[in-house]
Amino acid sequence: MHNRNRPYLRCLDCQFDALRLIIQSFSKPGLIRLALCLIIVFPVAQASPPQAAIASAHPLATEAGFEILEKGGNAFDAAVAVSAALAVVEPAGSGLGGGGFWLLHRAADGKTVMLDGRERAPLEARPDMYLDEQGKPVPDKSINGALSAGIPGMPAALVHLSEHYGRLPLTTSLAPAIRYAENGFPIGKRHHRLLSFRVDILRRSKAASDVFLIEGNVPDVGTLLVQKDLANTLKQLATSGKKGFYNGDFAKKLVEGVRNAGGIWTLRDLSEYRVVERQPIQGFYRGIRITAPPPPSAGGVGLIEMLNILSGYDLQVVDESTRKHLIVEAMRRAYHDRERFLGDPDFVTIPLQRLISPNYAAGLRASIRPDRALPSDYLSHANLPEPDGENTTHFSILDKEGNRVSATLSINYPFGSGFMVPGTGVLLNDEMDDFAAQPGTANVYGLVGGQPNTIAPGKRMLSSMTPLFVEDAYRIGIMGTPGGSRIVSMMLLAVLDFAEGRTPESWVAVPRFHHQYLPDVIQYEPSGLTENEQAELKKRGHKLKAIDRRYGDMQAVLWNKSTNRVYAASDPRGEGLAKLK
Ligand code: GLY
Repeated sequence: MHNRNRPYLRCLDCQFDALRLIIQSFSKPGLIRLALCLIIVFPVAQASPPQAAIASAHPLATEAGFEILEKGGNAFDAAVAVSAALAVVEPAGSGLGGGGFWLLHRAADGKTVMLDGRERAPLEARPDMYLDEQGKPVPDKSINGALSAGIPGMPAALVHLSEHYGRLPLTTSLAPAIRYAENGFPIGKRHHRLLSFRVDILRRSKAASDVFLIEGNVPDVGTLLVQKDLANTLKQLATSGKKGFYNGDFAKKLVEGVRNAGGIWTLRDLSEYRVVERQPIQGFYRGIRITAPPPPSAGGVGLIEMLNILSGYDLQVVDESTRKHLIVEAMRRAYHDRERFLGDPDFVTIPLQRLISPNYAAGLRASIRPDRALPSDYLSHANLPEPDGENTTHFSILDKEGNRVSATLSINYPFGSGFMVPGTGVLLNDEMDDFAAQPGTANVYGLVGGQPNTIAPGKRMLSSMTPLFVEDAYRIGIMGTPGGSRIVSMMLLAVLDFAEGRTPESWVAVPRFHHQYLPDVIQYEPSGLTENEQAELKKRGHKLKAIDRRYGDMQAVLWNKSTNRVYAASDPRGEGLAKLK
């Protein structure tokens, strides 16, 4: 049973809110607190972690990261190795044909940055490209096949990460992934289950069927998956860098393969693709600093908005049903704002500072009744499908120098578009479905897209990916998860658990529930809500929906500077490996 009331250590009020501390220190107790903080925290604040830690969704990816650390690489080299290894051993979640967000912290100079390797819409993309003649979205076009693929960002991001932050050559950091692709690895239960889910779509692509299926059927658990073409593509990336993927003969092969299958990529799409370094956004919750991805992630803004709303309550003193009601009402409002305001910041103007400001949250909080759910219809009238999907992947890394990486990577739906470009081993994403095919309609996750997230040539589609750093005076957390639209609510529950003083093993195991404004329903995994909480929430007017399987695959690391201990945990729902060395 998850115990929210376990005692824990906090360094009194020694938080990041330095201003508050100084003001408090004018009183005598405040001075004592300040002195204690100086004594307890500052001497250890400079320390380096005693161990490195990696948590990822697959044991071979975690091992790839350690192999690179042992060769003298830093966390960023390890991140290249883990990303590439996941592309090989967890092809349902991410890959060279997809993209992601890599949140980085470099210990030497304190630089914190987000690498935006998100896919972009092809230059021939049009706002109505996934609509039928009546103007209705045709999900098959935006989810399956070559037309659903955005221009991949992963290969460019790996090169950028290596060249600007790593210290080893790509030939070294990509070596484990190349080996896994060449020699093969036995497929696990999760891979098998997701293959079964997407088998019909994979059968449409000869190259994908040849790699993932045996005579058109899903292979048994334990079958060796060998990916020779992908190994060659990785080798080319290792030796030629970005141009080995985005220019020359390889780019021609990609464009030809996509266009022959009904897609619209051009050589210019590939040659113009750029990774963007973006300034992360920050929020504070009860003295905890949250560093999160800015748009085109919707996750950081949504999470900070939810935390700002919740900071007006003491969630530890209210009863558990009220606590969950308040959390759900915060989720409802933040997901509503996602639809109204968020899109690619290079294309639309986003009132970012307003959305993440505590004053704005105070206004939203004023509309929350502790005894009553606010029907989402009061905010909108759309009628939508249930959120769905299990996708994407995450890993967290801390090295012994204190460098950190929190990365969430995706090809969108399991096995992406299901289309593999012949002769490349590159399975393409179907990230175009993360755009609003039509404002006011939902994507595959039931997320309603608004005008700011409509399709335009070269635009990045909004994402739920939310890799995080979460810190108080003496603890540094690195965390993230896959899970489509549910990513942001999972991260909220984990941050609240961090705030209550627990370790990664607890964050990744928190029982999960989710509300995303539309459809107007609280989803919960088995054990996500007790029977009493279900009854209490129904009394307040909430609709509930039980999900038959537990969801998410969180990967988390913690460095506690006051005890100088490192912890790591992989979600018990997944097959990942968290390890210290
Ligand atoms: N493709 C899932 C996401 O980026 O939100």
